Amino acid sequence: MLRRLHPEQPDSFAFTPANLAWAEAQVTKFPEGRQASAVIPLLWRAQEQEGWLTRPAIEAVADMLGMAYIRVLEVASFYFMFQLQPVGTVAHIQICGTTSCMICGAEDLIAVCKEKIAAKPHTLSADGKFSWEEVECLGSCTNAPMAQIGKDYYEDLTAKRFGELLDELAAGKVPVPGPQNGRYASEPLKGLTSLTEYDSGKTRYNASVQLATDIGDTVKRIDGTEVPLLTPWIGKDGTVASRAGKVSPPPAPAAPKPAVKQTPKAEVKPESATEEAGEEQPLTLSAAREGGADDLKLLKGVGPKLEGVLNELGFYHFDQIAAWTPAQVAWVDERLKFKGRIERDGWIEQARQLAAGEETEFAKRAKKDGIYDE
Ligand code: FES
Repeated sequence: MLRRLHPEQPDSFAFTPANLAWAEAQVTKFPEGRQASAVIPLLWRAQEQEGWLTRPAIEAVADMLGMAYIRVLEVASFYFMFQLQPVGTVAHIQICGTTSCMICGAEDLIAVCKEKIAAKPHTLSADGKFSWEEVECLGSCTNAPMAQIGKDYYEDLTAKRFGELLDELAAGKVPVPGPQNGRYASEPLKGLTSLTEYDSGKTRYNASVQLATDIGDTVKRIDGTEVPLLTPWIGKDGTVASRAGKVSPPPAPAAPKPAVKQTPKAEVKPESATEEAGEEQPLTLSAAREGGADDLKLLKGVGPKLEGVLNELGFYHFDQIAAWTPAQVAWVDERLKFKGRIERDGWIEQARQLAAGEETEFAKRAKKDGIYDE
């Protein structure tokens, strides 16, 4: 397929402030004179922002990196991950049409795309929600036929199941990715024949599917509010130490936490509660409030490591912890490396006391002896 710029282009492109800070931090990963190495992540971020790669976006990335426009266009037109035309607002469907998938029914899936989306690839559906294309092997051949939808793989598809997936997506649902025929991963269809002691029944989903469902961004585009780019060379205060003056510092405080959005008070509302799992994301902060973070190590059961994890999740103050509901405890518990501690050590009661200015026995001892939990 010829990969060319779309005939209709917007007038301009600009990264959002969050995406710009992210992009500038990306550039600092590379030595002076090698900023062009950041071209793929920057193009990807531009595509995530707009849905597809526009000519102004390609030029903006080129300007940012001091590259000739044609060099960036070469990259954008070479890799199929970059979409040079508008894509569906819900999802762009990529059907693998290579050998295994073709033998196992890829053509049936393409027929569904033609029927439900558009007769031709790279064409928007009538409602603008979907677009599709056939791609080369996506490396999931043992689970053929398959399709990549957004960021995840849907495998072991039949035309019927694939049609249902499209209907679910159109209705605003996000079906669980992975094998769609009951298979756990890529074990033999008739079940394991070796290593049976590692029977997959121990966990609900295989690791990839579990991660996909945990992250929950199958068809969500990156918008700058996700996991911050780790730039330890930049330092916590946001100063670019190594190449000051070349790159603007990222905004302080550090970028927000996963799956949350920043509000003016740096208080972050959960974007979506994982209600099915009985969990609800508590309010988190992108940084400690003025006056600094509370010493969470004064909670029995919270040592330096766990305090770091809590801070990373967006918890800096006793009153935040004191306000957790059972569903929110479940959410936090799921993300801690020391599951079960919240309840076992009575964090909430301790946090209530400490937030009210009282002292717990443990806090008194910890302050006096300087000994905290591990
Ligand atoms: S042939 Fe389809 S994933 Fe490899």
